[in-house]
Amino acid sequence: MERGKFITIEGIEGVGKSTNMAALVGRIEAAGHKVLTTREPGGTPLAEEIREIVMNRADEPIPEIAELLLIFAARSLNVNNVIIPALEAGTWVVSDRFTDSSRAYQGGGRGIPMETIDRLADWVHGDAWPDLTILLDAPVEVGMERASNRGAPDRFEQERHDFFQRVRECYLQLASHEPERFVIIDTMRSIDEVRADMMALADELLSDFSH
Ligand code: TMP
Repeated sequence: MERGKFITIEGIEGVGKSTNMAALVGRIEAAGHKVLTTREPGGTPLAEEIREIVMNRADEPIPEIAELLLIFAARSLNVNNVIIPALEAGTWVVSDRFTDSSRAYQGGGRGIPMETIDRLADWVHGDAWPDLTILLDAPVEVGMERASNRGAPDRFEQERHDFFQRVRECYLQLASHEPERFVIIDTMRSIDEVRADMMALADELLSDFSH
């Protein structure tokens, strides 16, 4: 049985991850592959409980190390109970966020050293890195404006502009360090143009990954 491909979608709030992810998944399924979608933090019942704590609990301060460890605890559940079994069964997995979010938010945003995050990543998922990571990019003002129309802000959405600026810059740096894994999509164009890029990317990876 050929192992499935692991694709992650990354970016700051408000760049259109959900819409573009749905389009991508539709295309891969249309090509005849089974696709499992997941999100982080989350993806299993326990990991979703951790998500709720990390994103919304306001009754006690959450130190940044606790935030990082909670997110990696959720990731361990998702990787072991959902992602790896699916890939091994030949299913493709598309995840809304993964370890690059920890590097960008807890590393770039909160200032936790990247070596600490990468050591945890190695411990929690070893070499189970994505085959492809799509970084949806937009200036922070634009993302924040789009995200502000979605109801009450969670713990992350309450952060200030400079936090998201550091997150965005970190993402762009990660992408430039690993150009073979990352594709950056500029979301500052019309919905149709961005979607056309996503479709072209899907077609490219379907042909790349089928040889
Ligand atoms: P979202 O998936 O709806 O965008 O929300 C998830 C939030 O959690 C988002 O603000 C980014 C944050 N997050 C981290 O800070 N680190 C992580 O490793 C992950 C997966 C998410």
